[in-house]
Amino acid sequence: MRRSPSITSQAGLGDRIFSTKDDRGLAANIDAGIVEVETALVAELVFANEIANVTSRYLLNAGGKRVRPMLALLTAHLGRGVVPEVVTAATAIELTHLASLYHDDVMDDADKRRGVPSAQMVWGNSVAILTGDLLFARASQLMARLGERAIRLQAVTFERLVLGQFRETVGPAAGEDPVEHYIQVLAGKTGSLIAAAAQAGVVFGEAPPQYEQPVVDFGEKIGVAFQLIDDVLDLSPQPQQTGKVPGTDLRAGVVTLPLLRLRERAETDAAARDLLARLDRDVMNTAGTELTGEASQAADSAITALREHAVTAETLAEAHTWARDAVAALDPLPQASVKKALTRFAETIVERSS
Ligand code: IPE
Ligand code: IPE
Ligand code: MG
Ligand code: MG
Repeated sequence: MRRSPSITSQAGLGDRIFSTKDDRGLAANIDAGIVEVETALVAELVFANEIANVTSRYLLNAGGKRVRPMLALLTAHLGRGVVPEVVTAATAIELTHLASLYHDDVMDDADKRRGVPSAQMVWGNSVAILTGDLLFARASQLMARLGERAIRLQAVTFERLVLGQFRETVGPAAGEDPVEHYIQVLAGKTGSLIAAAAQAGVVFGEAPPQYEQPVVDFGEKIGVAFQLIDDVLDLSPQPQQTGKVPGTDLRAGVVTLPLLRLRERAETDAAARDLLARLDRDVMNTAGTELTGEASQAADSAITALREHAVTAETLAEAHTWARDAVAALDPLPQASVKKALTRFAETIVERSS
């Protein structure tokens, strides 16, 4: 998935519209930078325990799109480009992301990740949680090499990510608007780290400081768009592309925007109310029980109906709006290959199918 044919072409940087000499030079630099990050990731996953080495490399080797390091390498080109400090920060950010996946799959009771059985399916919850902790610890050590600013960026981002997951877990407070709560969850659990990646490129690439806020805003917004697409992909009938089991979120009782929009409609629309009842009965909170025969068919058919319902198209449209706003945040950047590349990056995020 991730190395064919090049990481940048997946981000739309191999397209005809991205083909001037400068553009091609930027794409080649990013590809080379990703190779450096990849080497650093493998080199970092050495712990004082043989089994920890195996469990921590497990999901790294299973795949992943490397979206966050790519973004850091891109924004670094507003400054000195792929310098060693940027590679270190990008590696730490990807390790943080990787760690969060180990924990997330425990929380979501997810059977699969990156096309393979999730870590806790292989080794149980304790080993999966501890592997995530080890990766978080290693990410902090890497950031510490870059000094106080990097440590603070890592700590603040990690806190936001955890609070996003926390808010998702505990749900909206009494009287809180469910959709507003949900967007806050997305900004926390996903926007925070993507924004940190964009920021790290500027800071550690020593770009002009006035570029920092625009790329942070870009990262936050594209992060929300990215997660909205993730919610739609949860309903995807192509698990071989997503590497996940369809309906994982809903089965685990994790609320996503299509479901929230369906609940809104159900107040006035009988067909929406009927579909919501089917989802509540056949899909929601079924994680952990193996569905067979009629129960499995009923779950699949309710997931299909939600995927084909207007609320899912609305969610996609909302993702596109967030992506457009992300690109608008780049206005203060100079018109050059980096801005064009970030724009393509935003477009490919909302067009993605894995
Ligand atoms: C999955 O992120 C978790 C989310 C925050 C949506 P990615 O879709 O970037 O996962 P990989 O790294 O490509 O597997
Ligand atoms: C993952 O969110 C967010 C983090 C790992 C912090 P999801 O639970 O929605 O992502 P997937 O669908 O499992 O990748
Ligand atoms: Mg999950
Ligand atoms: Mg989750």
